[in-house]
Amino acid sequence: MSYRSLNDPTDTAHLEAMPGRSGGVQELTLPVIQGTLGPSVLDIRSLYPEKGYLTYDPGYTSTASCASKITFVDGEKGILLHRGYPIAELAEKSTFLEVAYLLMEGELPSAKEYEDFSGSITIHNMLHEQLRNFYSGFRRDAHPMAIMVGVVGALSAFYHDSLDIRDPQQRMIASHRLIAKMPTIASMAYKYAIGQPFVYPRNDLKYEENFLYMMFGIPTTSYQVNPVVAKALNKILILHADHEQNASTSTVRLAGSTGANPFACIAAGIACLWGPAHGGANEAVLNMLREIGHKDRIPEFIKKAKDKNDPFRLMGFGHRVYKNYDPRATVLRAACHEVLAELGRKDDPLLDLAQALEKIALEDPYFIEKKLYPNVDFYSGIIFQAIGIPPAMFTVLFAVARTVGWIAQWMEMIEDPSQRIGRPRQLYTGHPMRPYVSLKERTTA
Ligand code: CMC
Repeated sequence: MSYRSLNDPTDTAHLEAMPGRSGGVQELTLPVIQGTLGPSVLDIRSLYPEKGYLTYDPGYTSTASCASKITFVDGEKGILLHRGYPIAELAEKSTFLEVAYLLMEGELPSAKEYEDFSGSITIHNMLHEQLRNFYSGFRRDAHPMAIMVGVVGALSAFYHDSLDIRDPQQRMIASHRLIAKMPTIASMAYKYAIGQPFVYPRNDLKYEENFLYMMFGIPTTSYQVNPVVAKALNKILILHADHEQNASTSTVRLAGSTGANPFACIAAGIACLWGPAHGGANEAVLNMLREIGHKDRIPEFIKKAKDKNDPFRLMGFGHRVYKNYDPRATVLRAACHEVLAELGRKDDPLLDLAQALEKIALEDPYFIEKKLYPNVDFYSGIIFQAIGIPPAMFTVLFAVARTVGWIAQWMEMIEDPSQRIGRPRQLYTGHPMRPYVSLKERTTA
C-alpha cells in the first residue's frame, strides 16, 4: 500500500457496508494520509459535504485534530521526540531555553541564535508594574493556578503592541514575553500567598536559576541558587515542555483558531491544565501519598483504585497515549534519586512510599492488563517537594514549562495556510422539534 502525503494523497481506504441515508448499503472511499512516523490517518474532510455523515469520537481517541511537525509520541513503545530528538537526550544534554527554541523554530539554535534568543527572553522577564495590583485583588489563600489564569489573561490588557496575530513580529514578541514572564508571574503568586515581598528578576541568572531566586529570595538576605536544584529544575522544565495534542494544547489551538490573542489563548491552556486528570495530577500524587501515609496501607488504596464503584484513581498512573512506561517518568525517576541523594535526603519517606506503590501496582494484574504505568506526574511532585516547592505550586511549574509547547503549537497553527476555526460537530440525542408549552399548561411529572 502506498500512501498520500498531506498535499498529495495517493491512496484510499474503502469502508464497506455503511448504510446509506436511503437505507441501502454504500461503499465509501477515503484518502489515506501518512505522516513521517505513527499511524496513517483517514482523511474524512469530504465525508459530511459529500456523504452527509459525521464521525463520532468522544474524547478524540481516534481523531488527529491537526498536522504537526513539533512532537511525536509513540505510546506503545514509550517514545517521545521533539523535532526528532529523543526526550531523554534533551533532558540530559540540553537547556530549557534551547529546547524552547527547538520547539518554536524547528532546529537547535546555533551559539549566536541561542545568545540572541536567551537575551530576548531575559529582557522581557519583568512585568508591567501595574500588574502587581492584580495580585492584591486575590485572597491570600487563592490557589496559585487561579492567579495564573487571571494574571496571564490580563497580559492582553497591558501589551497592546503584540496582540495582532497576523503580524509575525508581534507574534514573536508576544511569545517571548510569555516565556519570559511566566516564572515572574508564578513566583509572585507564591510570594503573595506567603505574605513576602515580590522579588524582581535578575538578568545575570539563567532561566531556571531566576525562577528559584524569585521564589526563595528575600530582600534582607542574599540568596545562593543551589546548582543541584537548578539542574533538576532545568530537567523538569524540559520534560514538561510539550506533549503534542494533549488537552491543554488542544485548548490553546482551539482558542487560537478563533483569532484570540496569544495571552488569552495561553490563559485558556492554563485553565485546562489545572484539572487533576491533566497537569493537576502532580499535586494530587503528593496528596495521595500523604493520605496513604504508610506502605502497609498500599493494598487498601490499590483495592480502591480497582473498585469500579469507587471514584478513586491511582494518581500519576495511566495515560491516554502511553501504554508503556512514560519516557518522561523514566528520566524523572532517575533524577528523583539523584536530587534526593545530592540533597542528602536519600531516605525520604515519600520516595520510599512512591517506589513501594509503583512496584506493587506494576505487579498487579489490573494495572498490567490495562497497561497503566507511572506517568510524568508520578515523580515530579517528589522532586518539587524535595527542592522546597509547595504542592499548590506543582501545576504552576508545569504551566511555566508547557507555555513553550503551547506557544510553539499556537505559532504552527497560525502559520498553517489551511487553518480554519476549530468547530467540532455533535451527535444530537435530545428532543426532536416540539411546540412551546405555556407555563399554565405545564404539568410536573
Ligand atoms: N487508576 C486506576 N484505574 C485507572 C487509572 C488509574 N490511575 N487510569 C485509568 N484507569 C482505568 C480506568 O478505570 C479504565 O478502566 P475500564 O476500562 O475498566 O473502564 C481504564 O483504566 C482506561 O482508563 P480511561 O479513563 O478510559 O483512560 P483515559 O485515556 O480516558 O484517561 C488518564 C487517561 C490519564 C486521565 C487516566 O489514566 C487517569 O485518570 N490517571 C490518573 C490521573 C493522572 O495521573 N493524570 C496525569 C496524566 S499524564 C500528564 C498530563 O497529561 O498532564
